[in-house]
Amino acid sequence: MGNLIRFGVSIEKQLVSGFDALIRKRKCGNRSEAIRDLIRRELVEQEWAEDNVVAGAITLIYDHHKRELLSKLTAVQHNFQHLIIATQHIHLDHSNCLEMIAAKGKAAEIKELAELLRSTKGVKHLALNAATTGRGV
Ligand code: NI
Repeated sequence: MGNLIRFGVSIEKQLVSGFDALIRKRKCGNRSEAIRDLIRRELVEQEWAEDNVVAGAITLIYDHHKRELLSKLTAVQHNFQHLIIATQHIHLDHSNCLEMIAAKGKAAEIKELAELLRSTKGVKHLALNAATTGRGV
């Protein structure tokens, strides 16, 4: 890592104590690593806020016995086919399915895809993991 830059930061003692405690609790290494993680998290949040090209994972849980649910979910995904990189379907038990959708594209479109899936009747749970393509961080 020849492109590292060192810089001094002035922070209140109490804030540093709290930060060090958090680092120990989360086992996230040293202060430098923890600060890098915080900066990256903020940059990724900014990528989403500015509607940049991002990556994300949508996880949803649904009961496949629900009438027409599968065909509705499939129709939504076909409408957003340009965003979807991969999907995986796991049969959790007799009724419940877990589906993971990996997406890459404009942040607002990925959010729209997630909201359309979430609002489909019969979907029990949906989580959107707002990640990054990794280029800006
Ligand atoms: Ni299934």
